[in-house]
Amino acid sequence: MTDAATAPTATPSSLTLVRPDDWHLHLRDGAALRTTAPHAAAQFARAIVMPNLRPPVTTAQQAVEYRDRIMRALPAGAAFEPLMTLYLTDRLPPEEIVRAHAAGVKALKLYPAGATTNSDAGVTDIRKAYPTLEAMQKAGMPLLVHGEITDPDTDLFDREALFIDQKLIPLRRDFPELKIVMEHVTTREGAHYVRDAGKFTAATITPHHLLYNRNALFIGGIRPHYYCLPVLKREVHRLALVEAATSGSGRFFLGTDSAPHAAHLKEHAVGCAGCYVAHAAIELYAEAFDRVGALDRLEGFASLAGPAFYGLPANTERITLRRENWTVPESYPLGEAQLKPLCAGETLAWKIVRD
Ligand code: NCD
Ligand code: ZN
Repeated sequence: MTDAATAPTATPSSLTLVRPDDWHLHLRDGAALRTTAPHAAAQFARAIVMPNLRPPVTTAQQAVEYRDRIMRALPAGAAFEPLMTLYLTDRLPPEEIVRAHAAGVKALKLYPAGATTNSDAGVTDIRKAYPTLEAMQKAGMPLLVHGEITDPDTDLFDREALFIDQKLIPLRRDFPELKIVMEHVTTREGAHYVRDAGKFTAATITPHHLLYNRNALFIGGIRPHYYCLPVLKREVHRLALVEAATSGSGRFFLGTDSAPHAAHLKEHAVGCAGCYVAHAAIELYAEAFDRVGALDRLEGFASLAGPAFYGLPANTERITLRRENWTVPESYPLGEAQLKPLCAGETLAWKIVRD
């Protein structure tokens, strides 16, 4: 008999959980949907679809038409529900919120102007959008926040913490019951802010911010496929995110921020920001949770906390992950271009069981 004190910790070889949802996803449009929509539908029952198309999705009508294009790109028989969002601008009319709510649009995305990919039409001063935020608070529609200030004189790595102090705290004071999600939180300051905030505040966490720190961008040379915004941070921040995601708190839930760009536009003198993770999202989260012995917390984070915050029922079907090595493809097509997924050519230890 093995001595219990020295025996290796038992790790399960499979894990069954309520089918997860992705609360932050970029599907893009047109031919890209032929890759991104099936990947999302293979993993998730629902996804909050980001509106930063060119031009951005700013009306209920555009959101409904975009939803139809996504549905047409799904494989036959796929049960996947895109949850649509609008892109907040300085002057989005409050009446549009009423129309959007009636059309099933679930949330609005705040991009500070210039903060990230396709954000030039974003908000220049949040106070200009206050009438729209009033309408959202009334309708119970969450504001999804890209939480970085855009002042070019500030250090890129400090922009999330500064956003909290300068923008989020005053915003919360002015809208005490507006649901706010700090999307892709990347810092200890962000994780602690959300942990200690009231029930109207939550955060999504990406798999890459759980798995990597900023060293990943520079090991052996510059590695553009690890470049996203908000950028990867120091190890101390990664550890705070892992603690938050595995804490069992309903404030933190899965949002991949899977953001496809053609490989040649990332491997470029001015490379685009965004990591593609939708091909193996739940497997990457399983890896992160497994590393700290917290697989039992994955279902809460991936499948239960998000719907609870959004006021939606959890899914009823389940998925199973098996501990099984597999190699991530080197690339996928993205229209006419190539898409390099995160962990391309690498071996992952968990695999979703496809039936
Ligand atoms: C996103 C994209 O490419 O649309 N990029 C990214 O680095 N995350 C935009 C965003 O979510 O910031
Ligand atoms: Zn995003």
